[in-house]
Amino acid sequence: MGHTFLISVFIAALPLKPIKPYEGVDLGAPATAKKEHAGLQWPHARRSIRFPPALVREVRCGMSIITAEAIRTDRLLLLPLRVDHAEETAAVLSDPDLHTFIGGSPAGVDALRSRYQRMLAGSPDPAVSWCNWVILLQERECLTGTVQATIAPSADGLVAEIAWVVGTPWQRRGIAGEAARGLVAWLGGKPVRSVIAHIHPDHEASAAVATTAGLTPTDQWQDGEIRWRLDLER
Ligand SMILES: CC(C)(COP(=O)(O)OP(=O)(O)OC[C@H]1O[C@@H](n2cnc3c(N)ncnc32)[C@H](O)[C@@H]1OP(=O)(O)O)[C@@H](O)C(=O)NCCC(=O)NCCS
Repeated sequence: MGHTFLISVFIAALPLKPIKPYEGVDLGAPATAKKEHAGLQWPHARRSIRFPPALVREVRCGMSIITAEAIRTDRLLLLPLRVDHAEETAAVLSDPDLHTFIGGSPAGVDALRSRYQRMLAGSPDPAVSWCNWVILLQERECLTGTVQATIAPSADGLVAEIAWVVGTPWQRRGIAGEAARGLVAWLGGKPVRSVIAHIHPDHEASAAVATTAGLTPTDQWQDGEIRWRLDLER
């Protein structure tokens, strides 16, 4: 009996209908790890949970892995992250104050290149999608920051954890708010059931960004941060 036959038998044995191995099991949002975990940028640095193999198969077959696409808003173009963005983003995000609430410190070009390579390689957990964008301000043709979404399965369907950073010289121009709204609208076109963000209770600017993107604070906390949430209409 050849390998091809054995593989065919195995594939044929896979259930065609979505199965719900997680019913009654609260998988919750991605568990938290140190923000500098593996040198990745938060929130990808949060350790993802080990999902039951059957659930992983359902996500692969029924919901598909989600990849970043270009997103256009009034003034911005959110471009899927590339390694060669590192030079410009290293300069734009060089202010240590950007790390007051999210931890860590600014990275140099080489460190960012390596980080972007790891981010683009994707999550080690095949059920989790890491989507990253740089924020291009169209009229100035320059990068102003980044946004990201970590999309993972939960008992309620796919949950996207989003985060944003805008370089200090570009802040207070509505860029983060516009980028977050564009990102949430894009997620609304994907099979994502809810969007969450974790925000320090003293971080007024980030709370305002989450609010303008339609998220509201919940009574759940993670690592000293409040979980904000938006359930998408389906
Ligand atoms: C949070 C952050 C992305 C906001 O970027 P931004 O482009 O300045 O945000 P916006 O211009 O869209 O402003 C959003 C709102 O925050 C308010 N805001 C901006 N900076 C503020 C500040 N320092 N203090 C209080 N409010 C502030 C704006 O007035 C605006 O409010 P409004 O919608 O009621 O008008 C930026 O401060 C940043 O990158 N911080 C460091 C990284 C970080 O902490 N990310 C958050 C991870 S959850």
